[in-house]
Amino acid sequence: MLIHAAVGGVGHLVVQSAGAGGPYVIGTAGGGKHDLPRELGAGEPVDYRTADFAARANDVDVVPDTLGGDVSTRSLDVLRPGGTLVTIVPTGFEDDAGNAAEPGVRLAVLLVEADRAGMRAVADLVAEGKLRLHVDAAFPLAEAGRAHVLGETGRTTGRIVLTVR
Ligand SMILES: NC(=O)c1ccc[n+]([C@@H]2O[C@H](COP(=O)([O-])OP(=O)(O)OC[C@H]3O[C@@H](n4cnc5c(N)ncnc54)[C@H](OP(=O)(O)O)[C@@H]3O)[C@@H](O)[C@H]2O)c1
Repeated sequence: MLIHAAVGGVGHLVVQSAGAGGPYVIGTAGGGKHDLPRELGAGEPVDYRTADFAARANDVDVVPDTLGGDVSTRSLDVLRPGGTLVTIVPTGFEDDAGNAAEPGVRLAVLLVEADRAGMRAVADLVAEGKLRLHVDAAFPLAEAGRAHVLGETGRTTGRIVLTVR
């Protein structure tokens, strides 16, 4: 697997979902942030600022993509025939995937809808120590605006949490 933004709010959970003994994980992250993806199970962090992921990965089965745009487009080139790009953000080619994609690769666009049962299941995994949630910062609900400003920097590591009394 090639996991983009492997220390992002979504990415650091995707790295863990690969599981011990699962697929070999290459994860992109800024150079100063390689300890976390390694701890979470990524075999090979790649500094996206100094290295081209396409030069480090080829014949990849699955690319989970939380970045979109040019990263999505270039990710098509590293997939093996029959491989899948799973994206949760607009790629720019999702409506024309059949033409834009490399022959034989697949595109899956996910829109997550949180529900009580799903959130409970995730909370249980965290409580049981099976899923590690890295918290970049926590804010009381009344300071949700500050949380948004921080999130919009696109530079945080793990999740931003709002605490509700
Ligand atoms: N479809 C859905 O259901 C769904 C659900 C949840 C989220 N989303 C969307 O998914 C996206 C990602 O959310 P998120 O919370 O995971 O993002 P995030 O936590 O804000 O991502 C920040 C991380 O991305 C890294 N990053 C930035 N540019 C990168 C690049 N070119 N290559 C590798 N890493 C890079 C940053 O590392 P550095 O600090 O080193 O730059 C930072 O650690 C958002 O657009 C969000 O709206 C969609």
